[in-house]
Amino acid sequence: MEQTGRQRALFLPFLLVLVLLCSTFLSGGPLPHLLPVAIHAQSTPNVAVNTADFKPAIIYQVVLDRFFDGNPANNDPAGDTGLYDSTKTNWKLYWGGDLAGLTQKIPYLAGMGITAIWISSPVDNVHLPVYEPGSSVPEAGYHGYWARDFYRIDPHLGTWSDFDTLVATAHSYGLKVIIDFAPNHSNPNDTGEYGSLYQNGTFEAAYNNDPNGWFHHNGGISDYNNLYQDEYDNLADLADLAQENSSVDSYLKGAMAQFLAHGVDGVRVDAVKHMPAPDGGWLRTLSDSVEAQGPHYMVGEWYLSSISDPTYPYALKFANRSGINLLNFPLTTALRDVYASGNGASEVDSVLTQEESGFLWLNDQAIFIDNHDMPRFLTLNSSYDRLHEALAAVLTLPGIPVIYYGTEQYLHNDTNGGGDPYNRPMMSSFGTTTTAYNEIKALSALRQSNPALAYGTYQQRWINSDVFIYERQFFNNVVLVAVNKGSSSYSISGLYTALPNGSYSDYLGTLLHGGTTITVTNGAVGTFTLGANQVSVWQYTAPESSTPEIGSVGPNLSRPGDQVIIDGQGFGNSVGSVKFGTTAASVVSWSPHSITVTTPNVAGGLYGVQVCTSSCSNVYETRVSSAAQVAVTFTVNNAPPTNYGDNVYLTGQFDELGNWGTTTTTAIGPLNDPNYPNWFVMASVPACWNIQFKFIIIHADGSVQWENGSNHSYSAPCSGTGAVTVNWQY
Ligand code: NOJ
Ligand code: NOJ
Ligand code: CA
Repeated sequence: MEQTGRQRALFLPFLLVLVLLCSTFLSGGPLPHLLPVAIHAQSTPNVAVNTADFKPAIIYQVVLDRFFDGNPANNDPAGDTGLYDSTKTNWKLYWGGDLAGLTQKIPYLAGMGITAIWISSPVDNVHLPVYEPGSSVPEAGYHGYWARDFYRIDPHLGTWSDFDTLVATAHSYGLKVIIDFAPNHSNPNDTGEYGSLYQNGTFEAAYNNDPNGWFHHNGGISDYNNLYQDEYDNLADLADLAQENSSVDSYLKGAMAQFLAHGVDGVRVDAVKHMPAPDGGWLRTLSDSVEAQGPHYMVGEWYLSSISDPTYPYALKFANRSGINLLNFPLTTALRDVYASGNGASEVDSVLTQEESGFLWLNDQAIFIDNHDMPRFLTLNSSYDRLHEALAAVLTLPGIPVIYYGTEQYLHNDTNGGGDPYNRPMMSSFGTTTTAYNEIKALSALRQSNPALAYGTYQQRWINSDVFIYERQFFNNVVLVAVNKGSSSYSISGLYTALPNGSYSDYLGTLLHGGTTITVTNGAVGTFTLGANQVSVWQYTAPESSTPEIGSVGPNLSRPGDQVIIDGQGFGNSVGSVKFGTTAASVVSWSPHSITVTTPNVAGGLYGVQVCTSSCSNVYETRVSSAAQVAVTFTVNNAPPTNYGDNVYLTGQFDELGNWGTTTTTAIGPLNDPNYPNWFVMASVPACWNIQFKFIIIHADGSVQWENGSNHSYSAPCSGTGAVTVNWQY
């Protein structure tokens, strides 16, 4: 990618023209939001969101009940009455928002540059009021997390026809649809409907009527750092589904398939830390079944506070192996610490630097500054400047930005600290003139035109406690971002950049106290002043390369025969070749920025994907499963005594069981030991395959103790779930 001196010289005149164009259209003078609409509408984006690749997306998170009431006729629906509060004073009842309301507001979201919506779980929730212990105040599943029937749409939200209209309308405006899906539990186990679960109206099981073992009956979680409790106990008194039960497995996957058939593009999976197990387990089988129905983006909620959280290593393992990306909570904590609570900017840089070495696909993780489970940003700090700065960061740092509904209208309610449910007020306004609305719009436009934001690397360039300057780069495409959260200005000298020689006007113009033009000479930026509360963005969008450049291979877990989408630049119009390692993949479609291939019939594992035309691209990693997956619970009884810090792991044949790996990141586990010295774990394995495996102890000091004897072997079921129990071989 190194340019020769001659190329650079030829480049310069072109660059000057480009800079002129940029300054005419994008900054200095008119603000980006004053651009004639036609310019955006006519330009073909350099990157585009597709179902496999959400990296170019800006996601907008909506609590459906709290967004917009498009159909008052369904507010207190027949068969599910008494849970609606027209006065909007009981924050835990339905307030009237629905699918029809969101559908009406799609143009508003499209106008802001939103390219995907994540809607709260639309499935039918409990029909009876829920009461907290000792309270007579009724509560309802207005948030969607108290399912009673995963096969029906909640009547307060609308019908399947309303759902289809929402998806069709969103798609017609170029927006993808992500549903929230909560397969960990049904509804409260001790009140209301006592966990009752129906399949399209037919009763299946309840927590107090469960002859076929649809639920775990182990009480509630008391220690959130205990993975066994997390996975097999009730989360917040919610009836915990037993995914190892074949009926539950097929119920949940069937419900998921129904949503996919209704055109859903992506899935946000609730509470992934609470389903077995960190290596993917049942959730890897879920993602396997989803991706077999066409490429889809999946992102899970693994709630943790920071990278010092004891479950962080398991979260990483999950993201790297399950096919499900994560919401990047540690980054959220850092962004809130820095921009709302006044910590030094290096906290954000330090989290990203550590995450870069842990996540295989950092750009696929979703990033955010607040959501429905924490006080809104403005509750922590009422300064709009701080909010705009945090938004600029979340819109330009590695990862897919998620904007919580109403942020662009400065929506917040600070009652009782502003947490759940006060962070879910009714959407206040749909005006398009706020600074935040226009900031999101401008940075969305940049995300569509300059691939550095979606696909690029991250590098910190200049930092003190107030100033945070960093760069994103994808080959020759560069975006340089400067954020000063301080109330004084700073003289910035000694700033280096990958921007080519030239001057660059501020992409955001004066929207966020900026408007500074910088000059770059041989990688050095001339000294300039970064004003108080200033946010500036300088960018260089390279001309289309003649060498293929891969920015994305998605989904990041597929099985032979699945379709996988490769996005990037310079693929050209004539069909070239694609390899997974050394094996050719058959090409389904080919265009300059996007290629669809079929995952070849290779052994499971991580593969470097490479695109070749007259020259070959960079190599981009993706994981391939051996075959279709089933969830199997592996148990070893009577294992040798272990000391504090020792753990039993499962290792075995095929990538799914770690290919006989013996480290905490390659072997499956750690296993759970609620009945010590018996240990178990759920793993995702190739269906119908015969599998060799063994258990090992990884001691606190890293040393490995194998079982003796020959390998165990097990024939995995061809469908449903499985279980195998062996005695430790001495
Ligand atoms: C996490 C969700 O985001 C939260 O709102 C919900 O209450 C729990 N999971 C249980 O579904
Ligand atoms: C090496 C281990 O020592 C052995 O016990 C195990 O059976 C093999 N790996 C797997 O074939
Ligand atoms: Ca309604």
